[in-house]
Amino acid sequence: MGKMPVLTVLKQRRGEFVSGQELARASGVSRTAIWKQINRLREAGFSIEASTKRGYRLVSVADRLLPEEISWGLKTQVVGKRLIYFDEVGSTNEEAKRLATEGAGDGTVVVAERQAGGRGRQGRGWFSPAGGVWLSVILRPEIAATDAPKAMMVAVNAVVAVVKSLGVEASIKWPNDVLVGGRKLAGILTEMSSHAELVDHLIIGIGLNANVAADEYPPELSEFATSLQIEKEEPVDRVELVRCLLAELDRGYEVLKLGKFDAVVEEWRSGCETIGQTVELACHGRIVSGLALDVDDRGSLLLRLKNGFTKAFAAGDVTVVKKPVKAIGKN
Ligand code: BTN
Repeated sequence: MGKMPVLTVLKQRRGEFVSGQELARASGVSRTAIWKQINRLREAGFSIEASTKRGYRLVSVADRLLPEEISWGLKTQVVGKRLIYFDEVGSTNEEAKRLATEGAGDGTVVVAERQAGGRGRQGRGWFSPAGGVWLSVILRPEIAATDAPKAMMVAVNAVVAVVKSLGVEASIKWPNDVLVGGRKLAGILTEMSSHAELVDHLIIGIGLNANVAADEYPPELSEFATSLQIEKEEPVDRVELVRCLLAELDRGYEVLKLGKFDAVVEEWRSGCETIGQTVELACHGRIVSGLALDVDDRGSLLLRLKNGFTKAFAAGDVTVVKKPVKAIGKN
């Protein structure tokens, strides 16, 4: 695992003084470098006491996604081997896209504490205050462009697995929303660059509302959005959350690269609440209603329309049609 980050050493000995010499030994950096790191941590909001005689003492921590902390103990093959961190960025997807064009490797992750111009599906924005998990992963799988939607399913499956491991019951709304009690907890924005029908790279942007308090949401979102903090009634450890998410993504990516698409789709299907429901689908300004039968192997939603035909839809927003109580059992 290599040397321990300065912060991890201080965290393990929280409340105690650790001498500069000991910190330097455990983290493998010089004492001058330690001083620099302590200052960086203080700037990031950690409160660290320093005493010439006794060394350094961590007094209070800040809720930050510092890459050295995420990397410590991260057991992944590919995803997150390189982590690029921003305190604030326009959009991690944009940043990842730029890096990918410059040749950034498979599994590179861009993470930000805040996004000033977070992007959602269908040209919408994405509310990205401090406390959430806003990250984008660059993947370079050797698969056909038509199989790319499975990478999106891998991402949704990973989010659902992590959320469930925290004891929160989540479900998938087609195509890639993660809901808890009907409110949106996470969304995914995938972008692809392909060449000669093969994937060159994919950008998998994940927005997971982690430590966002109910009163932080603007009025137009508060009814529709939720967060882990709201659901659990306490903040979550975001560093641990990101580590688990990257591990789940890594696991799913391995399955994808082995070409086990059925396994990916099956896991997705078992978490999906849309299938089997009568829905309204808003797509290109039109509303189509029908029974959601399944997804096909491109991730498109198969709707049985009122005229009896089944049609595949690649994109859109679905709403479950709630039947009036008295109509139940009549059709
Ligand atoms: C959706 O509309 O449901 C998709 C939301 C995706 C948001 C994430 S946050 C990290 C990444 N960067 C962005 O600008 N968007 C995605």
